[in-house]
Amino acid sequence: MFIGKREKRKVLYWLERRLHASPLIELALHKRVPVHKHSVWYYFGGISLLFLMVQIVTGILLMVYYVPELASAHASILKINSGVEFGWFIRSLHSWGANLMIAVVFIHFFSAYFMKAYRKPRELTWLTGVVLLVLCLGFGFTGYLLPWDEVSFFATKIGLDISSKVPVIGDIIATMLRGGTSIGQSTLSRFFTIHVSVLPILLMGLLSVHLAIVQAHGMSEPSDFTKQEDEEKKYEPFFPDFFFKDILVWILAGNLLFALTMLAPWGIGPEADPFAPAPIGIKPEWYFLAMFQFLKLVPPMIGPIEGELFGILVMTIFAGILAAVPFWDTGESKLKSDLATALGVITVLFMVIFSVWGAMS
Ligand code: HEM
Repeated sequence: MFIGKREKRKVLYWLERRLHASPLIELALHKRVPVHKHSVWYYFGGISLLFLMVQIVTGILLMVYYVPELASAHASILKINSGVEFGWFIRSLHSWGANLMIAVVFIHFFSAYFMKAYRKPRELTWLTGVVLLVLCLGFGFTGYLLPWDEVSFFATKIGLDISSKVPVIGDIIATMLRGGTSIGQSTLSRFFTIHVSVLPILLMGLLSVHLAIVQAHGMSEPSDFTKQEDEEKKYEPFFPDFFFKDILVWILAGNLLFALTMLAPWGIGPEADPFAPAPIGIKPEWYFLAMFQFLKLVPPMIGPIEGELFGILVMTIFAGILAAVPFWDTGESKLKSDLATALGVITVLFMVIFSVWGAMS
């Protein structure tokens, strides 16, 4: 049916009276994106968003068949893989999607870091981002146990044993997550609940704040861009120019996810046997590998302190310094700015070298 201009105006007027959305639409229409040689990094927040949406949809579909009970969890995944039409596809999308999302969120973290996008007035965008990164790692950690296969069981055991070493709160948190002293039904139920309801609620709330602040401030400008004369600075409108490029990037990222899903469908190992000895060479997921490898190298005792505890303290302090970067690298001191860049480079090198080392050893 043909809708004329008058009807269209009527519908818009009806919506506006109820939603009062025109200031938001105005904001979106006037948003502009700086154009410079680092502009490519502006796409990674959007790609994180795409993968998050894939995770939500595929996660809901998986919940239809997954059973969070010791006797059935592994069998329900086997059923999804071979007894449910396109089950393998949805599961593989969810597993590859989780890995790609964490990788992309890390890239987004470091690009915001190196572009110094955390500086005033974006301190809260940064801090909400830091918590989002922790939540994403939490999704990875809790989701990994759910198939209840050998590797996921023992990797979770190692992860919980390590976190119980954190002074004061570590043991309490590990015991609460386990639901006792050993991994069993209580652990599976807790991980499932955290994975499908606690983390999604926290993530959606925090992401809304993150995105609202991004909209309020517009995109940050790197310092070599701000130093240019006003006439030399180039901008493009967010809508439609940047928006359509965003869509193109989404299509490319979606294709990568589909290719991985089709070419390397996600497998599953033998069912976990809590009473069997841990298989040799068990490792956590790649995003925890650098930490794991570092802890393996620390000697058992460093002076009066237990080696693992020392390693955890060093990494926690280092991560705290990076998370607090907006408050010490405010842009007023060249020395602090260079120090922030150097710490970022050290962190990236540490993560890459220790992850590769961990994967190979
Ligand atoms: C679920 C995870 C996340 C999603 C979906 C997300 C989404 C986004 C989106 C769509 C943008 C605007 C476009 C862009 O700059 O790329 C953005 C900007 C930003 N994000 Fe995130 N983000 C996430 C995690 C993080 C993390 C882990 C950090 C770092 C701690 C972070 C820090 C920032 C900053 C500082 C900006 C502003 C960039 C600028 O103005 O140039 N975000 N985020």
